[in-house]
Amino acid sequence: METTSRTLGRSGIEVSALGFGCWAIGGEWQAADGQPLGWGKVDDEETVRAVRRALDLGVTFFDTADVYGTGHSEEVLGRALGKRRDQVVLATKWGNVFDPDTRTLTGADDSPEYARRALTASLRRLGTDYVDLYQLHLSDAEPEKAAQLRDLCEEFVKEGLVRAYAWSTDDPARAALFAEGEHCAAVQHALNVLQDAPDMLALCERLDLASINRSPLAMGLLTGKRHTSLEAGDIRSKPPAWLQGFGGDGSGSDPEWVGRVEALRDILTSDCRTPAQGALAWLWARSPRTVPIPGFRSVAQAEDNAGAIAKGPLTAEQLAEIDRLLGR
Ligand SMILES: NC(=O)c1ccc[n+]([C@@H]2O[C@H](COP(=O)([O-])OP(=O)(O)OC[C@H]3O[C@@H](n4cnc5c(N)ncnc54)[C@H](OP(=O)(O)O)[C@@H]3O)[C@@H](O)[C@H]2O)c1
Repeated sequence: METTSRTLGRSGIEVSALGFGCWAIGGEWQAADGQPLGWGKVDDEETVRAVRRALDLGVTFFDTADVYGTGHSEEVLGRALGKRRDQVVLATKWGNVFDPDTRTLTGADDSPEYARRALTASLRRLGTDYVDLYQLHLSDAEPEKAAQLRDLCEEFVKEGLVRAYAWSTDDPARAALFAEGEHCAAVQHALNVLQDAPDMLALCERLDLASINRSPLAMGLLTGKRHTSLEAGDIRSKPPAWLQGFGGDGSGSDPEWVGRVEALRDILTSDCRTPAQGALAWLWARSPRTVPIPGFRSVAQAEDNAGAIAKGPLTAEQLAEIDRLLGR
């Protein structure tokens, strides 16, 4: 199976089989009630080095969102790419409203007027005049409103501002609604070895969409690390209801989840893989449509994750053994 590159569904846009997820590199930001929404502090210079190292290692796909770090992720990514922007496929998202002065999420907006304003602002922060993949970030948006936004994305494509678009949602019915648009190329959804999504993968197969996998490392759990002392600005220290695998009392990794990761360790670390590389290898084996987008905060993580590409997917036998071990 080819793993060095994959195609973004019917768009024909080719990307490295691994993308880089740019949520954590946005740095600290929060909800209006003080809930942390970032991953704690980041060092922008280390981010720039990590992005450039990824480029040198053949990574050509980057996923960000306007709201990550209330604009900061897009800015630092744009700076790191610089003149190499045209060598990569850039995905960003819109729908959340935020205040960069206070680094606070202030709401959501599903109107076409806001989408156009958001796109203009993302282009400025990224330092580019087009977005390769523009994604609706409001996972539960009303289908009627989303259909209008899908049609607007077709306008963006005609205007040359966007090459293809997607919905970031875990709901196959919503993904199918967006896929009615000619230039819809993908769906971004949660998928990792602990959290399978067979219905969404079947839909991707049927409608010729790429499956862009958020949280491919289960927010760090699949790296084999035990997160015991998370800093206050890290969303995992005070996990909202949707975030699984970390104790609600700020205690870090949930022991039950850690146990499941431990049970898979031998398979994930086969053929000299690190646990993170094994988790990515599971995703490539799961479907030829998957494009995992692990987060990163350092050159070391960038190198480890990019190093997974050369090691390729797990085998079908290993996938079956994982299902057996997890009782699936
Ligand atoms: N559309 C959406 O609503 C949505 C939601 C979530 C994520 N996403 C996208 O998906 C991307 C990835 O998902 P995610 O951020 O949830 O988490 P993830 O990729 O499952 O986990 C990323 C975290 O794992 C740790 N890590 C990464 N590589 C490692 C390595 N090689 N060795 C050891 N530790 C490593 C780092 O955290 P520590 O070092 O702190 O452990 C890193 O921040 C995001 O950046 C974003 O682009 C989208």
